[in-house]
Amino acid sequence: MKQSILLQFLLGIVVCFGVFFCTNAEDPYRFYTWEVTYGIRAPLGVPQQVILINNQFPGPAIEAVTNDNIIVNVINQLDEPFLFTWHGIKQRRTTWQDGVLGTNCPIPPHTNWTYKFQLKDQIGSYMYYPSTLMHRASGGFGAINVNQRSVISIPYPEPDGDVTLVVGDWYINGSKALQERLDSGLDLPLPDGLLINGAINSYSFTGQKGKTYKVRVTNVGISTSINFRIQGHPMTLIEVEGSHSLQEVYESLDIHPGQSVAVLVTLRWSVKDYFIVASTRFTKPILTTTGILRYIGSNTPASLPLPVGPTYHVHWSMKQARTIRLNLTANAARPNPQGSFHYGQINIMRTLVLANAKAQINGKLRYAVNGISYVDPTTPLKLADWFNITGVFCLNNIKDSPSPIPQVLGVSVFGFTLHDFVEIVFQNTESITQSWHLDGSSFYVVGYGGGNWTTGLRRRYNLVDGIPRHTVQVYPLGWTAILVSLDNKGMWNLRSQNWSKRYLGQQVYLRVWNDEKSLFTEADIPANALLCGKALQL
Ligand SMILES: *[C@@H]1O[C@H](CO)[C@@H](O)[C@H](O)[C@H]1NC(C)=O
Ligand SMILES: *[C@@H]1O[C@H](CO)[C@@H](O)[C@H](O)[C@H]1NC(C)=O
Ligand SMILES: *[C@@H]1O[C@H](CO)[C@@H](O)[C@H](O)[C@H]1NC(C)=O
Ligand SMILES: *[C@@H]1O[C@H](CO)[C@@H](O)[C@H](O)[C@H]1NC(C)=O
Ligand SMILES: *[C@@H]1O[C@H](CO)[C@@H](O)[C@H](O)[C@H]1NC(C)=O
Ligand SMILES: *[C@@H]1O[C@H](CO)[C@@H](O)[C@H](O)[C@H]1NC(C)=O
Repeated sequence: MKQSILLQFLLGIVVCFGVFFCTNAEDPYRFYTWEVTYGIRAPLGVPQQVILINNQFPGPAIEAVTNDNIIVNVINQLDEPFLFTWHGIKQRRTTWQDGVLGTNCPIPPHTNWTYKFQLKDQIGSYMYYPSTLMHRASGGFGAINVNQRSVISIPYPEPDGDVTLVVGDWYINGSKALQERLDSGLDLPLPDGLLINGAINSYSFTGQKGKTYKVRVTNVGISTSINFRIQGHPMTLIEVEGSHSLQEVYESLDIHPGQSVAVLVTLRWSVKDYFIVASTRFTKPILTTTGILRYIGSNTPASLPLPVGPTYHVHWSMKQARTIRLNLTANAARPNPQGSFHYGQINIMRTLVLANAKAQINGKLRYAVNGISYVDPTTPLKLADWFNITGVFCLNNIKDSPSPIPQVLGVSVFGFTLHDFVEIVFQNTESITQSWHLDGSSFYVVGYGGGNWTTGLRRRYNLVDGIPRHTVQVYPLGWTAILVSLDNKGMWNLRSQNWSKRYLGQQVYLRVWNDEKSLFTEADIPANALLCGKALQL
């Protein structure tokens, strides 16, 4: 018995070595050179400055396969420092490629820097966007589609085609004007419109009657939750941010900022055009944009009225959210069933209750988490860790639960040990919907509720088939609870996807650490790492 365990352990090591030293060499490489520039486009009919990637708005989709190595040489032709972040890509052992100011120095204007990362054990629909300042409000975003390896089965019939939709709110004022407005202490107004793949009311997709298409929809917006629907065509949900969901059928789906879903849509009706609709949730007025689903051979335009979606209806949204669950028997990127990690049976080692709040600090509008409004230090947190630079951050200055202290500016870093199993409760103290994203890991969503969270509510958690995802909404004056196994060493950003809130401080970092220095748990700092702040003076 003991011997066979030892043997398994040794075999495990061999496989590990194999994975570690061979994967990068064996798995395919995809090379990209992305020139990031300003340019003029008129997505809402008014010419405005936008951010382009190789002259494209939105940016090109990365089409890849699980375990591919992605090499992106980014040439920053903007007049400001710049970074991309790869939203939902776990960056296993390579926090160095996460592309947020806590992990990377920004790429200075008119220079280039090359990201190198692997889509290790991931499958599904993700995205990328600029993480610096308010750049993202001007573009530079796009989809990352990770398809299964040929040896992996998927829990739905192979679709006849693929459609990728990046949908999001849009402002006519560019990122600099929005940033100035925030810097001056004002919140952002309602967006000016909603875009589907960079266009309002003009996107179209043509498909063949009788065929089934996989439609990936990502909310790339900076502040607004959307509802998505296709006239007369129910959608079968198949994937949510890398997890294969129970295949429920929906007339319409709420998608919050930073979230992605994939659905199957069968073109089963008569040959004509149908409306694709996205509309904002929880806003007054409601903004709506349409696209067209065109059957091949159609010469009949889509007919009004547009399919209706929910309007305010927070409860509707929460009820729908609870139906989005994990298919325990299906596999994801690897052949083992998704349900084999029994997250509901693991002891919680630490609980964070994170309360967001609008604050006035030094007379300026800020957003805070547990009393601290985050400010990026000039030295990335991860570089401070690596080079043993003191005075950049201290651990756990932020409290694990909301504190009544006056709100202050600060550098919020929670210290965790590698493999800690943690409960995080997002307590929403505002009467608007929030959206929170974690880098480096996905988490199990175990509960949503209204009012204030209490420990007694754990009894209502879904400890069986909660969906693992990387971005979750928190309803007005309500709470959302997640469980996460912190198995990825690094410095990971936990942030509001409401970009003005993040810009004004609604973010923290989780430092996942152990003292052992090993390439099995964390890669060395890349040879091309940029240095800045105190790391320059070493
Ligand atoms: C900048 O781009 C050149 C090729 O155009 C490449 O050789 C070089 O490695 C890049 N520099 C960085 C830091 O990525
Ligand atoms: C757009 O920017 C201009 C100039 O900065 C400003 O006057 C205006 O209020 C802004 N509009 C919105 C909707 O933010
Ligand atoms: C779950 O996945 C299995 C494949 O393992 C598939 O056959 C089944 O239809 C899926 N069930 C639902 C409800 O999505
Ligand atoms: C930082 O300190 C650790 C532990 O004392 C040491 O192992 C490591 O080599 C130091 N790193 C640098 C870059 O000096
Ligand atoms: C984002 O923040 C703005 C400003 O507080 C607010 O109006 C909007 O409702 C928020 N949206 C979401 C989805 O949190
Ligand atoms: C939730 O807690 C906050 C802060 O303690 C309090 O002001 C508020 O009244 C509570 N809300 C409810 C519904 O109990």
